[in-house]
Amino acid sequence: MIISYFQANQLLQAKKTGASSVNISLDLGKTQNNIIIKSNRFIFPDNQFIEEQIVKKIIKKDTSCFFIKNNGIEKIEFFSEKTNKYYKLFPTKSWPTIEISGIRMHCVKDITPKQDTIKKISFIKPCIGNVLDTCTGLGYTAIMASETADSVHTFERDDAVIELEKINPWSEDLFDNKKIIRKKGDIFQDIKELKNDFFDRIIHDPPRLSLANLLYSQEFYNELFRVIKKHGKLFHYTGNPGAKHRNIDLKKNVIKRLGIAGFSSLKEVFNGVTGEKK
Ligand SMILES: C[S@@+](CC[C@H](N)C(=O)[O-])C[C@H]1O[C@@H](n2cnc3c(N)ncnc32)[C@H](O)[C@@H]1O
Repeated sequence: MIISYFQANQLLQAKKTGASSVNISLDLGKTQNNIIIKSNRFIFPDNQFIEEQIVKKIIKKDTSCFFIKNNGIEKIEFFSEKTNKYYKLFPTKSWPTIEISGIRMHCVKDITPKQDTIKKISFIKPCIGNVLDTCTGLGYTAIMASETADSVHTFERDDAVIELEKINPWSEDLFDNKKIIRKKGDIFQDIKELKNDFFDRIIHDPPRLSLANLLYSQEFYNELFRVIKKHGKLFHYTGNPGAKHRNIDLKKNVIKRLGIAGFSSLKEVFNGVTGEKK
């Protein structure tokens, strides 16, 4: 059972109106459950309860998600000694995102992670055949691509992110959907083992350049070109060009290197670049 300040607000509002129960989501918006309100307690379907004063604490932490555990709450965030980074599941009004040492993995300003994902997939429509999703993250691009594709091959190298995938209700399909082939590994290395001309679509959604420069390198782009089929389409996320001048150069440089790799019809689009193998 997971809640964030959205559900905490609903609980407090219901209590205020004198209701004896309220429907809220305990899986970040996927389904609804009935919570009993008795004096200052909220009683959950498994008979655990949390006190009103704890719910009030949740509404003050609008950047965290919480497990309901032992009649209390536990933040869904942790430090990884392996990467020396701090990871948290970050709530939004739709699907959550991950924050890694202060950097969020999806756009959450003016757009939700869900809308962000719909946009990314729209640039490689129709999203069919074999899809390469280079960086799994919470799996949103992989899961949405799998709705229309035959197979989606997706790679994640960070154990801490994989732990959050297992916790996040909206990542569940990553583990249940037979079309999705999950690999734990570094795509910069693992792409070398992938077959020539195999993928109909590629979604390349790396962390920002300063955190993953190899995934923006000529060597990697040459590999993307090698593994994509003739007439295959690529979407490469680069970030928002309007926001920073540096990003304008980034898109142009990405286009230049993708062109050298062999991609054609290269175009700047919202938050990224698209291309094709002619
Ligand atoms: C922007 S997120 C991807 C978001 C994802 N498309 C989604 O829909 O949730 C980038 C992810 O790539 C992972 N990553 C970074 N470098 C990688 C590499 N070399 N190989 C595989 N995954 C990598 C990061 O750990 C992070 O989870």
